[in-house]
Amino acid sequence: QESKSESPVKERSVSVVLLAGGKGKRMGANMPKQYLPLLGQPIALYSFYTFTQMLEVKEIVVVCDPSYKDVFEDVKGNSQVQLKFALPGKERQDSVYNGLQAVDSNSELVCVHDSARPLVLQGDVQKVLKDGLLNGAAVLGVPVKATIKEANTESFVVRTLDRKTLWEMQTPQVIKPNLLREGFELVNREGLEVTDDVSIVEHLKHPVYITEGSYTNIKVTTPDDLLLAERILNINSGES
Ligand code: CTP
Ligand code: MG
Repeated sequence: QESKSESPVKERSVSVVLLAGGKGKRMGANMPKQYLPLLGQPIALYSFYTFTQMLEVKEIVVVCDPSYKDVFEDVKGNSQVQLKFALPGKERQDSVYNGLQAVDSNSELVCVHDSARPLVLQGDVQKVLKDGLLNGAAVLGVPVKATIKEANTESFVVRTLDRKTLWEMQTPQVIKPNLLREGFELVNREGLEVTDDVSIVEHLKHPVYITEGSYTNIKVTTPDDLLLAERILNINSGES
């Protein structure tokens, strides 16, 4: 008998690549932003816990400087999710590449997440995993609310973009491992530029599905984002 609510994503079939290898230059703190405390807990541990609690997740490959391994090892507890580590690269895409090398060859999906997005909801992760499995590649995104204009280098408006077609990309970005590997081969061979993981797949001319996520899944980038993240957490826990 078919159950509509049952996800096609199998138990322990997903490898998470958790990106925690950045320096956080725009935050300007004395440590990489993903280790700054958010209501007393390092930012990176929020999404780490979200993934360790999911049955779909087989392993988490944390891409981080070795000096921060214990942040994750100390809290892994009795979670059945396997913990692995990979070294950060120069650019974000290099960190993704290094993480991919550690991914179990039997995994059906790679789920790349910015540790700087602590507030991602488990339900949204489940939706994007399902869409990734069905389409080969899927990414969480939200419709752009603002009016976006393109300007020239002298700050004069060139044109107004059609808001209805614009989406802001978030993470996780979910891709079948072979597709991601193929994408990296092409990008490396031709020296193409990529700003996110799904643009690697776009170069392959493979469709990428956008799963509508939540506006609260912010990326902590500058100090005001830390305050915003605190507010969102407090609201969710029932503060008035
Ligand atoms: N990241 C990474 N390896 C890199 C660059 C970024 O693992 N070489 C990770 C960051 O740790 C972050 C995510 O990718 O979780 C998104 O990157 P971003 O928000 O740009 O973080 P940083 O690069 O650390 O910040 P900044 O650009 O301000 O220096
Ligand atoms: Mg960066």
